[in-house]
Amino acid sequence: MSFSPDLNRNKTRQLAWLLARLLLLIGTQAACAQPGGTAGQATSGAQQPDQARYAEQPTPIYADAGHTQTLGMLTPGTKLYLERNPNAPAQGAFFLDGWTQQGNDTAVFLQQGKRTLAASMNGKSWRFQKLGEIKDDYDNLWTHIRLNGYVDTKTLTASQDTVWHAAITLYSARCSACHALHKPTEFTANQWPGILEIMAKNAALQPPEKALITQYLQTHAKP
Ligand code: HEC
Repeated sequence: MSFSPDLNRNKTRQLAWLLARLLLLIGTQAACAQPGGTAGQATSGAQQPDQARYAEQPTPIYADAGHTQTLGMLTPGTKLYLERNPNAPAQGAFFLDGWTQQGNDTAVFLQQGKRTLAASMNGKSWRFQKLGEIKDDYDNLWTHIRLNGYVDTKTLTASQDTVWHAAITLYSARCSACHALHKPTEFTANQWPGILEIMAKNAALQPPEKALITQYLQTHAKP
């Protein structure tokens, strides 16, 4: 695998993407101005900038255009790219880039080393393209992957800020009854899920509400 030239190109693209993103965000509300947690996914954005979409809610993904075989579920806020297919635009063919950890067949993470979910998958049956590999400080093997599939485009939005606005509204309404609202940056992306296990019960959150709030807190967490 000729990894380093690719990596350099990706870095340059990522930088360009971040700059563009920054310019776009000037003038939007501070609370929603953080792109948050998407740096690991941005590498393919330069090719198809107008096709980027975000899941508004937990969204099923399928292996086939007929949407009969379920692969798993996208997490709210996850960025994917709809494939250009002028002949069948409604089919919702997409790809997304993420990370898997060796030994875990059911999770696609947004970034290497952070347990922020891009999608939860149904066991071993799904396939992916391997983009690269990294061993972390604890000797865990992480694989950078591209996942292909099909999705119902109805619950996708072109604006990630729309997703985070909904999350902030829900979070403010449901998580401030017993104590002041905690800042997302009070805990790391790997600490929030444990807290939410308890607090989702306190707040009587439905599973999709819990997924949205957890994702918002993890993607805006303490680095
Ligand atoms: C029914 C009351 C109640 C609701 C609603 C509630 N909490 Fe809590 N929360 C508590 C109590 C009590 C504590 C302190 C004791 C503890 O840590 O369990 C706490 C503590 C916390 C802490 C601090 C944990 C720590 O380790 O310092 C965080 C963060 C938190 N809550 C987040 C949330 C979030 C997010 C929600 C919404 C999903 C929420 N809470 C809703 C009662 C509530």
